[in-house]
Amino acid sequence: MIKLWMMTSLQLAELFVSSIVHLIYGFYIFSSAVAGDISQTLNDYLFKSNDVGETCQNLTNVEGLPPIVLVHGIFGFGKGRLGGLSYFGGAEKKDERVLVPDLGSLTSIYDRARELFYYLKGGRVDFGEEHSEACGHSRFGRRYEQGQYPEWDEDHPIHFVGHSAGAQVVRVLQQMLADKAFEGFEDTNENWVLSVTSLSGAFNGTTRTYLDGMRTDDGMSMKPICLLQLCRIGVIMYDWLDISWLKTYYNFGFDHFNISWKKTGVRGLVDCLMGNAGPFASGDWILPDLTIQGSTSINTNLQTFPNTYYFSYATKRTRRIMGMTIPSGVLGIHPMLFLRVFQMSQWRFPQDVSPPYKGYRDEEWQENDGALNTISMTHPRLPVEHPSRFIRSDSECQTLQPGIWYYKIVEADHIMFIVNRERAGVQFDLIYDSIFQRCRKHVFRKIPQTLPNLSPSSPRSPKRNNFVH
Ligand SMILES: *[C@@H]1O[C@H](CO)[C@@H](O)[C@H](O)[C@H]1NC(C)=O
Ligand SMILES: *[C@@H]1O[C@H](CO)[C@@H](O)[C@H](O)[C@H]1NC(C)=O
Ligand SMILES: *[C@@H]1O[C@H](CO)[C@@H](O)[C@H](O)[C@H]1NC(C)=O
Repeated sequence: MIKLWMMTSLQLAELFVSSIVHLIYGFYIFSSAVAGDISQTLNDYLFKSNDVGETCQNLTNVEGLPPIVLVHGIFGFGKGRLGGLSYFGGAEKKDERVLVPDLGSLTSIYDRARELFYYLKGGRVDFGEEHSEACGHSRFGRRYEQGQYPEWDEDHPIHFVGHSAGAQVVRVLQQMLADKAFEGFEDTNENWVLSVTSLSGAFNGTTRTYLDGMRTDDGMSMKPICLLQLCRIGVIMYDWLDISWLKTYYNFGFDHFNISWKKTGVRGLVDCLMGNAGPFASGDWILPDLTIQGSTSINTNLQTFPNTYYFSYATKRTRRIMGMTIPSGVLGIHPMLFLRVFQMSQWRFPQDVSPPYKGYRDEEWQENDGALNTISMTHPRLPVEHPSRFIRSDSECQTLQPGIWYYKIVEADHIMFIVNRERAGVQFDLIYDSIFQRCRKHVFRKIPQTLPNLSPSSPRSPKRNNFVH
């Protein structure tokens, strides 16, 4: 009895601390975005700049260059949201042609992949009849009058860089292209994707979802009292109140669920809160896709394709000492993630529920970066392991081959390479420079594409690899 009481109060205390920490961080991001905007506006007002040339790029230079598309993860946002704040810490400025789509911050992997397609190709987002019916949302979403890369096809393929869940979004999109899953675009195939680079990619699920409140037995639903429940109520209220300037500023991406008071009224709100309607009721949001069970079921249908290049940077912020996994240091870990790094490093799957897959071992899942387990980030492993190669140093791989996941393990926490570029310091530049350079100089189809600004002496075929900086 006393033990039970102790456990409960410990859990409540943990919930309290976690909520406070996350709220503070959320508020910090939001207010720094607002502050950034205000100072930008003031700046523009005081020093009326006439450097129009910088903002209006010379597009003719860029034509023919395949875009590099940066795909954000959970709670992420694309260009135009949160004012001038950049999810990728401004990395998009490192190359002439980088796109940063906004795919909704809590929407499911499936919905994000659909959105991403139309964002690039243009047209009205079609979530598919079957899926939208099953999940209780509108079949059609917003219309992209002009796609960002309308010429996109097999001969004009794209480089993708995904952070966290964004990496899985790209894989799902590539599979949809291969399966010709977009009505009216019957000529799609997997070769529309030239390369995929994953930064802390969520391929194999994460035990953190259970710490945040997903149930371990089904990986689908939430515990009655947990951080995610608080988040759920907050999101429903935010979307129901539908304050337009706020939603332009930051959007969870659930517009296709019609949660706004204008559309559902008070009844709709009650329905959503009671769990009878909305994304949280049908499980069509991101968390169920990030449990080990959820990832398993997504991965069942995903392939690694022979003509696409795959790279992955897995992160970790733990180390093993005498059979124990513990956080590596205190100062290097973001305060928002520290508690989770510790909890994940001690994680044990409950004895009374069946493990998420056959042969599951707690020890393998204890190394982590505060959001994902390192084992989950290297390459897709489930239900079958995909071809992969662990890279320690340059010399280990001279020639890059498509169809193999080249991966590297980096000492960093989950948000090291996003939002705040100062935190990573010189590592930030090293990692993104090497990603962009690789896309531009070392990754081609068999027939090399002609690139502008490429001197004749530059390597035209994937001769040398610069995976490691
Ligand atoms: C853009 O580049 C083209 C060719 O390089 C040049 O002719 C044109 O004047 C440039 N336009 C601007 C606005 O700089
Ligand atoms: C949402 O509202 C739009 C009209 O505003 C309607 O066409 C659509 O069917 C609605 N979707 C759902 C799931 O209620
Ligand atoms: C993840 O990785 C493990 C270890 O290789 C693998 O055995 C398992 O099938 C994968 N599990 C899930 C759920 O992705």
